[in-house]
Amino acid sequence: MSKENNDLDNDQDKEFVAKYKAALRAKLSREEFAAYQEVLPNSIVRRRLSISTRTGLDLVLLESDSEFDGAVDLEKIEKFEKYYKEILDSHHGPQTMDYSSSNKKQVYIITAAQNATRIHQGFFSALLQYKEYRNAELIVIPYRYRNPASVWMGADKKSDWWWEPLRPFILENQVKLCDGLEIMGQIKMQPTATTPLSGLDTITGVNSAVFGHPKIQLKTVPTPQSKLPKILTTTGSCTEENYTDTKTGHKGKFHHNISALIVEVDGDKFHMRHVHGDEDGSFYDLEYYYTPRSRSKYGRVIGLIPGDIHAEFIDKKVESALFTGPDSIVGVLDPKFHVYHDIEDFYARNHHHKNNDVIAYGKHHYGRNNVQDGLQISADFIDRHTRPNMFNYIPRPNHDEAFDRWLQEGDPKLDPENARFYHYMKFNQYGHVEMTDTGFSTFNAFEWWCKNPLNKKGLQAIEQTKFLQRDQHLFIGGIEIELGFHGDQGNNGGRGSINSFAKIGPKSVIGHSHSPGIVEGVYQVGVTGRLDLEYASGPSSWMHTHCIIYPNGSRALINVVGGEWRASYYDKEHDITS
Ligand SMILES: [Fe+2]
Repeated sequence: MSKENNDLDNDQDKEFVAKYKAALRAKLSREEFAAYQEVLPNSIVRRRLSISTRTGLDLVLLESDSEFDGAVDLEKIEKFEKYYKEILDSHHGPQTMDYSSSNKKQVYIITAAQNATRIHQGFFSALLQYKEYRNAELIVIPYRYRNPASVWMGADKKSDWWWEPLRPFILENQVKLCDGLEIMGQIKMQPTATTPLSGLDTITGVNSAVFGHPKIQLKTVPTPQSKLPKILTTTGSCTEENYTDTKTGHKGKFHHNISALIVEVDGDKFHMRHVHGDEDGSFYDLEYYYTPRSRSKYGRVIGLIPGDIHAEFIDKKVESALFTGPDSIVGVLDPKFHVYHDIEDFYARNHHHKNNDVIAYGKHHYGRNNVQDGLQISADFIDRHTRPNMFNYIPRPNHDEAFDRWLQEGDPKLDPENARFYHYMKFNQYGHVEMTDTGFSTFNAFEWWCKNPLNKKGLQAIEQTKFLQRDQHLFIGGIEIELGFHGDQGNNGGRGSINSFAKIGPKSVIGHSHSPGIVEGVYQVGVTGRLDLEYASGPSSWMHTHCIIYPNGSRALINVVGGEWRASYYDKEHDITS
């Protein structure tokens, strides 16, 4: 500890000096600092002089603002709080409270709340129902906003309060809930921040982190492949919209989500997913519909968009968690529609392997050269998981197009393994060439093969499967969420990314990157294939993440972690004794 801190008489002096220094760095005026402290400016002057006289510590004068009207600049306050925390940490070390333990089993509901703003009563009541049914703990992260036009804030300069029923659940510290997950209760973000997670990639080291903010955002940060990627996410809010009548305020209102994050801590792992309130506050979570008064089972989810399939390299544990058995995602939620991205890897003749003699040698000696064998693995995957009363959609992604590329660039004279099949496909491809208004087209090679294999089974569930053309629109269940884009091609032919799709506007679910994310209305799934695919190298943000669409169009990303997609004690929360 520095000499300066030793010389200070007491904790009150130390606290004052730390705050005063933070105010200097945040460029608060003397009047703003005094208003924040709820004292008169002269009191600040006297306190500074007193400390100087007693300890010799000569603090720089805070500038005076003669035109101060009582309204403190909230951006400055945010900076001030950040600097104040940094100063405290430099004196005392990180103030994380560690509630983790190796055998912990606990469900948490985490949401956020705005100061001086009414709660969404229906949603809050539904959360309390959830809390009772699942023996869960409720955590509310407070955040601040100043809206002079607000019924509750307008005439009240001291609007630093939160709705009374929230009081028992407010968390204002950084808390480690379990191994690898921290709740950042100490950070009060502006609700109008357009990218609330920006700049926070490293703030929790290797741990995942949850931030209180009304706009839903989720991203994964690369970690070495042996570890789960770091997940950063916001919570959504349980308070009603309360924004200024400005452009920033309107943008904040547009992205205001009545939502919460469910976290299930289960020993050495955790599961997380969002829930989103309807107008009356009711929400879906997995097979239950929670209302302000009760919960009930509702039937089937509308859609399942698993992470990119890559059937030739499927992760067996993930396939089991997704599809197999009564306790799998499909077994419990029984989706009406499945949308499969990157089902076909086209490993046998993928253009990425061109001139790679080692892979060519391996394929030759270990029997991985046959194109039809690979296609059959993909068709078998679809057949294996097609059930009565459901339907499959196959968007047209880049891996499927590797088949077309082989038909265009392959040389059958140098490929005796596939020569006859190549000519079979080419003969029929030419036979399907049609003139369009702007050029020529032919069949989708994978689709045609599924229906007309040369000497294999092909796809049996052909009546329950639709193959989409590139960028063909797909809505399911009458819900306006675009599911036809794979995610590799962005605007005007550029490379696709979750951010480029977010700029388009409509809600969508995309694949391709293998890294889950939520930006604006775009949800991005992870991968169902193995995390150590041949072309994956370096630190990875890939996860086994899948998207479900509920009957009201709300969505949730479901992570399969260690072969499990929800807590092992799900529906037995009241029986946990550890
Ligand atoms: Fe993929």
